Amino acid sequence: MKKEEIHFGYEVYESDKELNAGDVSLLKQAREITQKAYAPYSKFNVGAVAILNNGAIISGTNQENASYPVGLCAERSLLASAAMLQTNVPIQTMAIAYHNLNGSSSKPASPCGMCRQYIAEYESRTNQPIRLILSGMDGKVFVIEKAGMLLPLSFGEGDLK
Ligand code: THU
Repeated sequence: MKKEEIHFGYEVYESDKELNAGDVSLLKQAREITQKAYAPYSKFNVGAVAILNNGAIISGTNQENASYPVGLCAERSLLASAAMLQTNVPIQTMAIAYHNLNGSSSKPASPCGMCRQYIAEYESRTNQPIRLILSGMDGKVFVIEKAGMLLPLSFGEGDLK
């Protein structure tokens, strides 16, 4: 028997004031676009904005449904748009923000498990890690250099061979 370890590290900023100009801009857009979320059931509005290798900006918001499981997260709505509108163009950085109309929006939230799986496959199909910027409407900001780090020992297309 041997033990393996997976190390996970990420950056913590006290506020967006510590970020570089490009990251501030992306996070600002993600915060603004939470207004376009369709989340009448949870009232948890999520906005995601990504910059691609060619400079294109793609965004997404969560889209809920009266049949609750049908709802779509902001991250997957963004990635499906990117795949269609900018096919095969890798994503450099994705900022994800939320506005919780029921409570506080002052600490970062990270992508749900299903989105982690979807993001991991996007990274592998475009051969490039995606950098994540996570925050609420204010407060701390987390930066994760490679989104795939959020899903250690992940299942992927290689497992189907
Ligand atoms: N949600 C996202 O859009 N992204 C996440 O990473 C976490 C959760 C959405 C799903 C649902 O519409 C609402 O937030 C509450 O879970």
